[in-house]
Amino acid sequence: MTNNKLNQQRTVSIAIKPTTTLLAAALMITGISACSLKGAKPVEQRDAAVVWPKLQLEVKPQAEMEKTIASMVSEMTLAQKVAQMIQPEIRDITVEDMRTYGFGSYLNGGGAFPNDDKHATPADWIALAEAMYQASVDDSIDGSTIPTMWGTDAVHGHNNVIGATLFPHNIGLGAANNPQLIEQIAAITAKEVMVTGIDWVFAPTVAVVRDDRWGRTYEGYSEDPEIVSAYAASIVKGLQGSAEQDFLGDERVISTVKHFLGDGGTVGGIDQGDNIATEQVLFDIHAQGYVSGLTAGAQTVMASFNSWHGVKNHGNKYLLTDVLKDRMGFDGFVVGDWNGHGQIAGCSNDSCPQAANAGLDVYMVPTPVWKPLFENTIAQVNSGEIPMSRIDDAVTRVLRVKMRAGLFDKPSPAQRTLSGKTELIGAKAHRDVAKQAVRESLVMLKNNGNLLPLAPNQVVLVAGDAADNIGKQSGGWTITWQGTNNTNADFPGGSSIYDGIQSQVSKAGGKTMLSPTGDFAIKPDVAIVVFGEEPYAEGNGDIDNLEYQRGNKRDLALLQKLKAQGIPVVAIFISGRPMWVNAELNAADAFVAAWLPGSEGAGVAEVLFSHADAQTQFDMSGKLSFSWPNSPAQTAVNRFDDDYQPLFPYGFGLSYADETVLETLSEVAAANNDESQSVAIFTRSVQAPWVMSIGSDNEQLPVTSSVLQGETVYLRTVDKVVQEDARRVEFNGEALGYINFRSNFPRDLRAVVESNAVLSFALKVDSDISDEVYIAMGCDTDCGKPLNITDALVPLPKSQWQTVSIELKCFSDSGVDFAKINSPFSLSTAGPLTVSIADIEMKPLEDNEQATIQCQ
Ligand code: BGC
Ligand code: BGC
Repeated sequence: MTNNKLNQQRTVSIAIKPTTTLLAAALMITGISACSLKGAKPVEQRDAAVVWPKLQLEVKPQAEMEKTIASMVSEMTLAQKVAQMIQPEIRDITVEDMRTYGFGSYLNGGGAFPNDDKHATPADWIALAEAMYQASVDDSIDGSTIPTMWGTDAVHGHNNVIGATLFPHNIGLGAANNPQLIEQIAAITAKEVMVTGIDWVFAPTVAVVRDDRWGRTYEGYSEDPEIVSAYAASIVKGLQGSAEQDFLGDERVISTVKHFLGDGGTVGGIDQGDNIATEQVLFDIHAQGYVSGLTAGAQTVMASFNSWHGVKNHGNKYLLTDVLKDRMGFDGFVVGDWNGHGQIAGCSNDSCPQAANAGLDVYMVPTPVWKPLFENTIAQVNSGEIPMSRIDDAVTRVLRVKMRAGLFDKPSPAQRTLSGKTELIGAKAHRDVAKQAVRESLVMLKNNGNLLPLAPNQVVLVAGDAADNIGKQSGGWTITWQGTNNTNADFPGGSSIYDGIQSQVSKAGGKTMLSPTGDFAIKPDVAIVVFGEEPYAEGNGDIDNLEYQRGNKRDLALLQKLKAQGIPVVAIFISGRPMWVNAELNAADAFVAAWLPGSEGAGVAEVLFSHADAQTQFDMSGKLSFSWPNSPAQTAVNRFDDDYQPLFPYGFGLSYADETVLETLSEVAAANNDESQSVAIFTRSVQAPWVMSIGSDNEQLPVTSSVLQGETVYLRTVDKVVQEDARRVEFNGEALGYINFRSNFPRDLRAVVESNAVLSFALKVDSDISDEVYIAMGCDTDCGKPLNITDALVPLPKSQWQTVSIELKCFSDSGVDFAKINSPFSLSTAGPLTVSIADIEMKPLEDNEQATIQCQ
């Protein structure tokens, strides 16, 4: 398609945008699909050939191989077939389970390690891979010798493994706009993954991100399909090799283009939300990474959590089967995302024929529900609910990929070419490529008076809490899922941004002083302040506007403090997305967006300082692959819309030769869409500033892990709608036990109580109620009486999620002072009790809604 045509289509979609949005909102309420209204054909009658091309896939089917597969499938039992379609997680299966069932594949989620040990060594990873493999080819119980395969989220290097080379997250790579470099990065990632005996990588993410509020913005290369399309082919080739050369050879892993489809285009940038684009826009904008990634040979596609016009993709037969497989010709397999099948209407995590029937080939089913899902799926085939032909097709696809990857011929994981070559993990040559990527990803937004590059032989103050913090500069999907709870010691061989500055400066005879708070003994010639977002992953990173440090501008204060002392200030901004930082831009003389550079922070300083030898001088070369917002509310991007005026446009980025001066920017945020009077306490995850703890009279345990055993209370994460969005609490009845949320500072919640709000939460009562159950709040001083809610809980049906809402007035009547709330929620009982809770928040009632618990 010519660029011109593409542009036209995009412009058209913009012109109708307001109506589309309103229309879509109305449709969601009535449940009618947009297409039926516009007179378009209902899904069953759509013709995929209208919008979608037939792809010229570089990897072709081979007749001999197809014959072998067909004969294998014809000899498999139903249980063996379904086992190929089940992908459990290492925390929920044992090697013996693998021996018994012979799963087609398994995964480790973000922050899941062999033996639950964050510091597991490559040898530990290989040992697990080897044991699982040997169990899978052992036919003593399941009668099957088909090798299993292990999939992992190596999304910016082999990021679950201590000591691996961590590359900048995709948003930074997008700014580098260098497809050759991306291929090298992918090839290195493949090698480091192969060292640990793993076969398969859940990357690249080819989302085209259209709303920066999305918590996964940094997993996208760009807001524009152009870069995503170029990169998808490069990364797939880097991971898998090229069709005609070293395809899935000894140094390559299987890749996954994800998340199919439209994950970057949900309404409001909501993770796992609804994409309401037209089919043409779905193709033009969101599908371009699939066009090039599949053409280059990607062997697996991960279905997305999101919906398209209200229908969850995991259950969308039109997209998974008609478009992806039948029309585009994809002959690898579709893997689900983390219990994503359970989100399809009518499905649960342990039962979902709809997904297989729609075209899902492998269920990603972490948590112990893999077992009932396995059994239910077999029963559904036996009852005819899932046709055997569908099962055979799914298994054929899985075996095809295994054969192409040579899994039937290769030695076991511990014996493979790169296995155990630990010198490759974090090898210098790999880190050098990562450093190059860091250098090329930097986007200079401001350089008044050409402050940069800095002479290195000066006194340099390095400030900001991201300056010497490799965890923070690496973001989410870094050792742990959220990228939190890491220290510099977790990155052996890596460097912080400060490390790099220190080395450049000392080499040239200058002096560095490190002070996160910007204090100094001798006045520096220049200050470099490194600051930005705390790490997050997936929906935990969703925000509702783009203002940086809303309500608490600590970093701005730091920049201003230094500037006020007449010190030239360089700001290095660490973030997973562009943010509204007008005030911070004003307070700095030079401002560089460094995104999430990863483990090689030293790359930043290589560009910041001038080098004695002009030959080795690096320029600032990164260009924005995302437009930079001119207000907190400018969250949705579209550079082809004439009305869209970002502060810095797509493609912007200064180089050292530029002499542009950025004038003072307005620091007034566009009027905030009228403050909603709600307070999130535990919505998907614990919300700042609250901290969750469990305890009893003589014990208080802050909850820092997914499972916690206290003296009277046991707590673990469970899934309500999405992963780990709920907690199960078991009180053993030996003393008064509680689960509560508190903050270190009292919060003023008067506006909330004045807005006639309720304390609302989802509750599932999993046991008998044997003693009284209380809900209380805590204030700075004395704070009212706990409310006894036993009578309201006893009649609730067991083991079903219910929404409980309590008028806040009940608390204020009992003496709670909402001006100083330290703890907005505490649930306690002295008897044995098991409950699950989720979605705890204070919020106004909708019209016509009544609190389930009212007071006189
Ligand atoms: C798990 C992670 C996983 C993530 C996927 C979380 O519940 O703890 O390991 O990668 O879900 O969304
Ligand atoms: C994420 C995927 C990831 C998977 C396995 C999911 O929640 O959406 O990107 O590959 O977890 O960790």
